[in-house]
Amino acid sequence: MDTSHDRLLIIDFGSQVTQLIARRLRELNVYCEIHPFQNVTDGFLLEFAPRAVILSGGPASVVHEGSPRPPALVFELGVPVLGICYGQQVMMQMLGGRVEGGKISGGGGTAEFGRAFVAPAEQNLPLLDGWFAAEKEQVWMSHGDHVAELAPGFEVFGTSPNAPYAITADTTRHFYAVQFHPEVHHTPNGARLYENFVRLAGFTGDWTMGAYREQAIAQIREQVGDKRVICGLSGGVDSSVAAVLIHEAIGDQLTCVFVDHGLLRENEADEVVAMFRDNYNIPLTHADETERFLGELDGQSDPETKRKIIGRLFIDVFQKYADQVEGAEFLAQGTLYPDVIESVSFSGGPSVTIKSHHNVGGLPEKMGLKLVEPLRELFKDEVRALGRELGLPASFIGRHPFPGPGLAIRCPGEITRPKLDILRKADAVYIDQIRRHGLYDDIWQAFVAILPVRTVGVMGDGRTYDYACALRAVTSVDGMTADYYPFTHEFLGETATRIINEVPGINRVTYDITSKPPGTIEWE
Ligand code: XMP
Repeated sequence: MDTSHDRLLIIDFGSQVTQLIARRLRELNVYCEIHPFQNVTDGFLLEFAPRAVILSGGPASVVHEGSPRPPALVFELGVPVLGICYGQQVMMQMLGGRVEGGKISGGGGTAEFGRAFVAPAEQNLPLLDGWFAAEKEQVWMSHGDHVAELAPGFEVFGTSPNAPYAITADTTRHFYAVQFHPEVHHTPNGARLYENFVRLAGFTGDWTMGAYREQAIAQIREQVGDKRVICGLSGGVDSSVAAVLIHEAIGDQLTCVFVDHGLLRENEADEVVAMFRDNYNIPLTHADETERFLGELDGQSDPETKRKIIGRLFIDVFQKYADQVEGAEFLAQGTLYPDVIESVSFSGGPSVTIKSHHNVGGLPEKMGLKLVEPLRELFKDEVRALGRELGLPASFIGRHPFPGPGLAIRCPGEITRPKLDILRKADAVYIDQIRRHGLYDDIWQAFVAILPVRTVGVMGDGRTYDYACALRAVTSVDGMTADYYPFTHEFLGETATRIINEVPGINRVTYDITSKPPGTIEWE
């Protein structure tokens, strides 16, 4: 637990959007931690010593027996408390108000889902400074129950047609309660409420990337002591930033292993190895295992079989090299905050599911290694900011995502070396085109897939019979949904001509205009 910054505690009651609260607070340079309600005991609260507390939303109904509660001590710490949706209702109930079940949960009140408009009450509330610029503010509601009677000391500061207690507060004790979700995109001015809340609580906004870097380095040193750490490098942003950060903390106690499976893009292995060896002087094993991977992939064309072979070999190969690092007790992973999904179950304890990093999944258990995960608290864009803070080249930080199985899943059908060579060349021309036209940073991911089909063409006086390829470029926020990038016809035409002229083996170029869903970003 970090002790050098003012801390805000988010008590999670299982809302789908609790992480977004943390996101909004990070944007305000406020240090916060999310903890499931079951873990928040009196002892925990006293040790954590929050400067403010936020009670999240959640799927339960406070009128149901056994529904989650925070410790009563939360309201006796003398710090500001903000209750959101379920958090608002639990606060009201515990402080002497009354909550009724809505239609959804079988009671007689009004459930409300989706867009709503909140209008101000007559009196001003500092939490709402700069908020009601218009007569009403759009907010996002998602509740079955509603507050029927306010707790003593609370007054109304905002109402919506279906939520007479949309915004209430006990201004003496600095308790604030909102029925809607200020953290979501559909409450467009919601960030302002958080800004006002942390200002009222006295946060100075001292949680910057520079501060994070110092804190993370201290934590790594404490965790690792004089033991050795191994880190699987993929050349992607996350593992690279993790490696540079850990190297700054423990220097030569870190060894990186870069597994080259022969399915990388043109010059990729050399670039990654050069960057780490030349710029950072980080001990790096370059494991060229092309023969082994391509050998086992020979003759395979089923997408899932390809993935399974690559995943299994990856673990075997990584283990082989890691075994050579004497005294290694830790494995570094680039796990990010969204990978750490803390969901709340109402019968048992908190269920924590961690998506393992694809490159080294399953390794820690097999090798008896402990994990070092210095990016666990960061969102993707914060990892990029940390990378900049650590001095990684901008070109590296802005790289498009690249899948663990590499070009194997961009080569539908059988994988052969000649096809991989053609694919690498075509991909390089395509990416060069995108960069030349200044489009690289507007696109989330772009690549070429070589198709398992040959077509007839004509070049010069001769007939050709070569491969067709598909260009793919998508925009996306998180890779979960995506849309194809609307290149101009001029761009597409110029790129097709360049690929056919510069890449022997390809005589037809197509552009993939499928969105996700229904398609996926990769072809396999
Ligand atoms: P799809 O194709 O599922 O891809 O729309 C979403 C994002 O994930 C990447 N991807 C992978 N990354 N191992 C990885 O590490 C994989 O097996 C894998 N499959 C897809 C893909 O490049 C895109 O960014």
